[in-house]
Amino acid sequence: MKKKNFEQQLKKESNLVNLKKNDVYIASDSLSIILRALSMIFHSNSKISQSSSRISQSYSKISSNFSLNINSNWIYHYKVEIIRYQNQLQYIVRKTFRGVKTKKEIPSLLKNGIFLYIAYRIRYEHASFEDLWQELYSLLPKYLIKKQFSYFYRRIKSFNWDIALKGKSLIEQQSLLFAMPSFFLNQMSKIMDDHSLKGQIKAISTINEKGLFGVFVKSNNHEKFERICKKNQIIFEQHSKFPSLFIIESKFKPILNSQLDFKKIGGYIQEIPSILSIYAGFHAIGTVNAKYFHPLMILDYCAAPGSKTRIISSFTSENDKIIAQDIHTQRVRLISSLSFEENINIIQSDGINPCFREINNFDLIFLDAPCTGSGTFHSNPGIKWRQSPNFLQKHVLLQKELFYHAFRLLKPGGIIVYSTCSMYPEENELHFIDFIYDLKPLIPVSLPSWYPSSYSIEQIARKKSNICDILSLQKAMSRFSPLHNHTAGFFIATFTKIKKSLNSSNSQ
Ligand SMILES: C[S@@+](CC[C@H](N)C(=O)[O-])C[C@H]1O[C@@H](n2cnc3c(N)ncnc32)[C@H](O)[C@@H]1O
Repeated sequence: MKKKNFEQQLKKESNLVNLKKNDVYIASDSLSIILRALSMIFHSNSKISQSSSRISQSYSKISSNFSLNINSNWIYHYKVEIIRYQNQLQYIVRKTFRGVKTKKEIPSLLKNGIFLYIAYRIRYEHASFEDLWQELYSLLPKYLIKKQFSYFYRRIKSFNWDIALKGKSLIEQQSLLFAMPSFFLNQMSKIMDDHSLKGQIKAISTINEKGLFGVFVKSNNHEKFERICKKNQIIFEQHSKFPSLFIIESKFKPILNSQLDFKKIGGYIQEIPSILSIYAGFHAIGTVNAKYFHPLMILDYCAAPGSKTRIISSFTSENDKIIAQDIHTQRVRLISSLSFEENINIIQSDGINPCFREINNFDLIFLDAPCTGSGTFHSNPGIKWRQSPNFLQKHVLLQKELFYHAFRLLKPGGIIVYSTCSMYPEENELHFIDFIYDLKPLIPVSLPSWYPSSYSIEQIARKKSNICDILSLQKAMSRFSPLHNHTAGFFIATFTKIKKSLNSSNSQ
C-alpha cells in the first residue's frame, strides 16, 4: 500500500475512537502520530480489549477519576505513558532500529508511533516477543518479516543505558535516563547542586507510587472520614496544625474515590500544597485583622477547573461572597458544572483586563497563576516536552500582568495569595523581589512557620537596593517539592496591601 493510502486508512481508523474526550494536551505532531498509531493498534487487535482491565487498574493508580470506556482506557494509558518516556523511547528506537532490514520503506506512523509502543511494551511491561508479534500481526508483517522483527525485539530488550550514555554530559544523561526535559534540568541546576538535582528527579519519577496526597474534610465529618479509612484499611495522618487536612499515600486514592460514603461526606482529594495555599489565605486574614473583614469578598482570580474554589467555599460562611473568574470558556464551564454553594458567582473574564469597576474591593484574592507546570510532570507528562525558554518567558510575563491587576483589586489590608505548580524561581521567588520593588504598598505576610521554606533569595535580593527586609519576604514564601515533601512542586506566597497607601493605590 502506498504511504499516503496507508496514512489515510489510519486516519479513518483513528477517527473511530473518541480521542478528544480525554485530550488534556494541545495536539502536537508527535502526539497525533502516537494517538493514531495507538488507535490503529487497538482496532487491529481484539485481544487488546482483554488487557484493558489491567490497564485500567494500573492507570487508576495515577488518576483518581478514571471512568472511561475500554477503548479510551487502553489508548489513554499508552498515550500518557509513551509521552511520559517519549525522549527515552525515541532514543532507544533510533539506536536499535539501525541495521534492521525492512521489506519496504517504513512510514513515519510506524517509526514514531508503533515503534515507541513496542519499545514501551518491551522496556516497561516486559512483553514477550510472541505476544507483541501477535498483537501487531495485522500491521508489522507488511514491513518486517518475523526474523527481522525478532532482531529488532532483541536489540531493544538488550539495550544498555550504561553504554549508550558514555561520553554524554550530566544533563544529557539525566534527561535520557529519567525522561526529563533538558531545559528543566538546566534551569534546576542553576539553583541546586548535582546531588539534590538527582534526588529531585528520582523523587519526580516515583511520586505516582510513593507520593502523598491531601484530603480536605470539614470538621463535622472528621469522625466519619476516619471510620471510612479504617473500614478500607487506608492509612491516614491528620495534620497536626491544620486538622481538616488528612494526609494519605497516593496508592489509597482510587480506593477512597470509589467509596460512596466518602463522596457523601464531601471530602476533597487534592495535592497537599494546593489545600495549604487556601489555608494560607484564611490564616493570613485571621492574623492580619479578622474583624475588619466581615463578610468576606473573595476573588479566585484564575479559578478553572474550580478545584480550589470548592475548598475556598468550605472555609466561608453564608454571608461571604466568592467570585470565581477564568478566561477560558471551556474551562469556566468546568467550574459551573460543579455543584457549589450559593455564595459563588462564576465569571468568564480576562485577568489582565478585569471586568470589575471598582479597585480596592476584595478582602482576599487567590491568584493560582497559569504556569509552566514544571512541578507536575508526574501527573501531566505532556507538559514536559513543552518546557523551553519561550514557554517560561511567556508565563513569567503573564504572571506579572495578572499579579499587578489582581493587586489593584485588593482592599488595603486585604490578603493576596499567589501560587503556582512550577519549580522555577523565575515564576515564583524572583517575581516578588520585583513586585516589592515596583508595588510599594505590597508587603509580605508571614506564612505559618511550619510551611516549608522557599529557595533562598538572599543573594538575588541584595542586588535590589531597597529590599532591606529579606527575612520577612522569605517568611512569606513557601515551596513544596517531590524530594522534600513527597508532593507536586508548588509555590505559595502571601502579601497584603498597606492601608495608609489607599490614596496612592487608588491613583495607580
Ligand atoms: C493553574 S490553573 C488554575 C487552577 C485552579 N485554581 C484550580 O485549582 O482548579 C490557571 C488558570 O488560569 C487561567 N488563565 C490563564 N490566563 C488567564 C487570564 N488572562 N485571566 C484569567 N484566567 C486566566 C487558565 O484558564 C487556567 O484555568
